[in-house]
Amino acid sequence: MILSIESSCDDSSIAITEIVSRKVLFHKKISQELDHSKYGGVVPELAARLHAEALPAILAKTQVYLPKLKAIAVTNAPGLAVTLVEGVTMAKALSISLGLPLMGINHLHGHIYSLFIEKRSFFPMTVLLVSGGHTQVIEAKGFKDFEVIAQTMDDSFGESFDKVSKMLGLGYPGGPIVEQYAQNGDEKRFNFTVPLGNSPKIAFSYSGLKNQVRLQIEALGDLNEQDRADVCASFQRVASAHLIQKLKKIFKTVIIKDFAIVGGASANLYLRDKIKELCIQNGATLHLAPLEFCSDNAVMIGRCAIDAYNHQDFISVDELVSTPKTSI
Ligand code: KG4
Ligand code: ZN
Repeated sequence: MILSIESSCDDSSIAITEIVSRKVLFHKKISQELDHSKYGGVVPELAARLHAEALPAILAKTQVYLPKLKAIAVTNAPGLAVTLVEGVTMAKALSISLGLPLMGINHLHGHIYSLFIEKRSFFPMTVLLVSGGHTQVIEAKGFKDFEVIAQTMDDSFGESFDKVSKMLGLGYPGGPIVEQYAQNGDEKRFNFTVPLGNSPKIAFSYSGLKNQVRLQIEALGDLNEQDRADVCASFQRVASAHLIQKLKKIFKTVIIKDFAIVGGASANLYLRDKIKELCIQNGATLHLAPLEFCSDNAVMIGRCAIDAYNHQDFISVDELVSTPKTSI
């Protein structure tokens, strides 16, 4: 069994996964969303303090598994510096005290492995990663063999939902809130421009769209609930149309048989529907992670760690450091 730890942002999570069967034997996640909600975004120092409380409380529930562990895995990059170190320190302490090998797992690799929870991993696949920190299209060729073929030049897809929600005074995390509001809104009411619509560039940009939304909110002045719903629906339509427009270009240049969406924002059902259509049009099979494992969790880290374990991809306590800005 492998014990895996995730603390790269605002979720404290620990999982225990059986290596051969890939079965998840234990999983607990304590989310800090409510604690950060009043600030409209994650406050790193507060997040670190809450991890320091939550991780030991979760670990205490894993005691029966500890004698059966074969390795310890932890997210060590990318993420918030002050929160990554909480998980990494706990992983090192466990590795030393239990005499077990240690594995450092890239959080983005973890999101890709959310597709393979309790399943065999398979490659190659083209993956759209949409989270709070990243918007990337990745050619996933094998374990640790990932190539970014397109990415955002500024804000990420999830982050833009967070910012729109904040501008509307609706709280954090913005993704699920904006999606819910959008269900009651008129997506055609506001004609925001699709970012990079006339550019041949295969890249993403969300800061301009965010500004369009800000100006629209200012122009409306006193907003009622219907205005908010209409802003959310119009924004969600254009934010998704931007992804689809660039993905269409990618489908024209790369032969894609298997396509996947991962990351917290891949839980967005509107986006899922649009991407489903795109895959059908292009004869590709769409792979999705279970909704509960789209946002940050230690189960996807544990699943990635099984492949790392089978590759004997271990690291010493001295060498394992958290590297907040690492890419995939
Ligand atoms: O993967 P994740 O849990 O954390 C990072 O690695 O960043 O993703 C969190 C992000 C947040 O920006 C959140 O607003 C967004 O995913 N998100 C969504 C939805 N659910 C979460 N964005 C759009 N629609 C959703 N339903
Ligand atoms: Zn994440």
